[in-house]
Amino acid sequence: MVTTDEIVAEEKQSSNFDLAFYLEEKKQLVEAALERSLSIGKPEKIYEAMRYSLLAGGKRLRPILCLATCELTGGTTEMAMPTACALEMIHTMSLIHDDLPAMDNDDYRRGKLTNHKVFGEDIAILAGDGLLAYAFEYVAAQTQNVPPQRILDVIARLGRTVGAAGLVGGQVLDLESEGQPDISVDTLTFIHTHKTGALLETSVVSGAILAGASDDEIQRLSKYAQDIGLAFQIVDDILDVTATQEELGKTAGKDLQAQKATYPSLWGLEESRKQAQQLVDAAIAELASYGEEAEPLRAIASYIVTRKH
Ligand code: FPP
Ligand code: MG
Repeated sequence: MVTTDEIVAEEKQSSNFDLAFYLEEKKQLVEAALERSLSIGKPEKIYEAMRYSLLAGGKRLRPILCLATCELTGGTTEMAMPTACALEMIHTMSLIHDDLPAMDNDDYRRGKLTNHKVFGEDIAILAGDGLLAYAFEYVAAQTQNVPPQRILDVIARLGRTVGAAGLVGGQVLDLESEGQPDISVDTLTFIHTHKTGALLETSVVSGAILAGASDDEIQRLSKYAQDIGLAFQIVDDILDVTATQEELGKTAGKDLQAQKATYPSLWGLEESRKQAQQLVDAAIAELASYGEEAEPLRAIASYIVTRKH
C-alpha cells in the first residue's frame, strides 16, 4: 500500500524537478548539434535556406523527447543525438512546406518571415526536400555505438512517419477538410494523430529503440506519446483562439479564418481543456513503472497543457 508519506515525498520530488532548467539545458545541446549538423556548402543559397529554418529556434520538443526516452531506457545522449537532429530536420521540412502558398500560405513562423517569404517558393520547396533527404542520411551516417538493426528500425519508422501513413496522409485530410467546419471528431483526430501525433510518437519511440528498450517499454512509451500528441494538438487549437500572434510567433486566429474544424469549435473551450488534461493524466499513468528518472517525461506531459505558446 502507498503511504501518505510516500505520496508527499513523490509530490515533493515532482515539484522539485525543474523542467524549465531541463528543457533549456537540453535545448542548448540540441541547438549546438543542429548548428554542427549542417554547414554551408555549394550552392550556398540552398544551404542558407535550409539553415534559416532549421536554426530558427523553436521549442525543440521532438529532439528533447528522443533524448529523454533514450536516457530513460538505458541509452546515452550520444546514441540518440543524430536521430534527435533528424527529427527536427523533418519537423522543419514539414513546416516550410505547410507554410507555402499552396498549403496554409503563412507569412510568419517562429517569429520570423517564413522560408518562401525570404527565399522564394522554389527554393523553399527545395529547402524542405533537402532537409528531408538529409535527415535520413544523417541518422544512417552519424549514429554511433548503436547496433545496426536498431538504426534500421529507426530509419524505417521515420519513413513511415513522414509518408502517406503519417504526416503526408494527415496533411492531405487536413487540406481536404478546410472550409468544412462540420467534420466529425473522428476525422479531426485522424488528421492530428497523423499530421502531428505520428512524429511526436516516433520522437519518443526512436529514443527507446536506439537504447534497446523492451517491446513492453516501447508499447507504453508509444501510448504516452499518442496521448501527449493529441493533448498537444488540442492545446494548439485552444491557443489559436486564446493567444496573440506575439505569444505564438505565428499568425493567431488562423483556424477560424480558414473555417477549420478544431477541438474548441466541436467541443467548446472548457471541454477541450478537460479532454487535454485527461490525456495528460493517462500519459503520465503509462510511466508508473519508472521512478524519478521519468520525471522529465512526466513534467513535459504536464507542460503541454499549461504552455502559452
Ligand atoms: C503544421 O500544422 C503542419 C504540420 C505539423 C505538418 C504538415 C505536413 C506536411 C506539409 C507534409 C510534409 C511532408 C512531405 C514529405 C513534404 P498546422 O498548419 O495545423 O499548424 P501551424 O499553425 O503551426 O501552421
Ligand atoms: Mg499551418
